[in-house]
Amino acid sequence: MKKILVLYYSQTGQLTNVVKSFTAPLQADENLEVIYQNIEPKIPYPFPWGYLEFFDIFPESVYMNGCPIKPFDNVKENDKFDLVILAYTIWFLSPSLPISGFLNSNYAKLLTDTPVITLIACRNMWIMAQEKVKVKLKAIGAKLIDNVVLIDQGGNLATFITTPRWMWTGNKNAILGLPKAGVHPDEIKNASRFGMALSDALANDLEKKEKPLLKGLEAVKVDNSLVGTEKIAHKSFKIWGGLIQKFGTTGDKARIPILALYFLFLLSLIVIIVPLNTIIKPIFRKLNRKKVEEERLYFEEPSGSEKERVKEYMSE
Ligand SMILES: Cc1cc2nc3c(=O)[nH]c(=O)nc-3n(C[C@H](O)[C@H](O)[C@H](O)COP(=O)(O)O)c2cc1C
Repeated sequence: MKKILVLYYSQTGQLTNVVKSFTAPLQADENLEVIYQNIEPKIPYPFPWGYLEFFDIFPESVYMNGCPIKPFDNVKENDKFDLVILAYTIWFLSPSLPISGFLNSNYAKLLTDTPVITLIACRNMWIMAQEKVKVKLKAIGAKLIDNVVLIDQGGNLATFITTPRWMWTGNKNAILGLPKAGVHPDEIKNASRFGMALSDALANDLEKKEKPLLKGLEAVKVDNSLVGTEKIAHKSFKIWGGLIQKFGTTGDKARIPILALYFLFLLSLIVIIVPLNTIIKPIFRKLNRKKVEEERLYFEEPSGSEKERVKEYMSE
């Protein structure tokens, strides 16, 4: 019997629902044993977030310092699995702090020499985070074979309002003609197609080939217009994050003035640079069509955005 480990951390339960939908077909497969392990921070993060608490974890998130995590109750450090699914959310263009905590811990050995599938549910900016996770996975000796990404409904402008509102108030309801916050329930439901395809692939030992198993299922879709934004924002996050950490760690009062300054910088960026960028960037992208397309294909690896197998696994 093949053993699959599912690791995840979810604050509101959204990612947990994605994990449940994705893995339901695996659980139903009598040839597979699915073991779930929640990655829990020793000190829970607040939800909804206070504004200060929210921005105060940004430097540590960006630098992937991680946080202390509780000992696992379902698995031991040296256990071996045929496949690991690492489900994570994005905090400040980086994996959430509990996920970084896990990747920095001895438990990361669970991934060594093992095929790994990453599963992300976030607002819409995950590219830089996945690049950082890739580096960690490589250092651990894990074999990343697939990446699946679900994003919040409503597009970039709408989620710029709906996602932070959800994080800061706990309210997901539709307002001002905007859709509800979070990933569309149908998207979550349809994540079961990945589990179905995976179940078939595992029955044929395909995970041993170290090749993607979820191609043709529309696993990821890179939005070219967000790649540049992510790159610039991540660079600025690194600079500011480094500076803020010189004033202390999360929770230190000495960080408040510099955090406030950062907040003003962010605000001016949003008011001036973002609208300017919206005008200039499409022109730039048209002039660099080939490079933009190459980048899209690279960031969509290993699973890709093609959808020729979607029907096969949706009709079951
Ligand atoms: C502190 C914080 C920072 C976030 N930063 C990002 C981000 O950079 N990119 C993104 O797409 N989503 C971001 N999000 C949204 C999360 O990735 C995720 O969608 C949300 O937290 C709900 O996940 P969960 O309740 O399943 O944990 C952030 C959320 C939090 C709490």
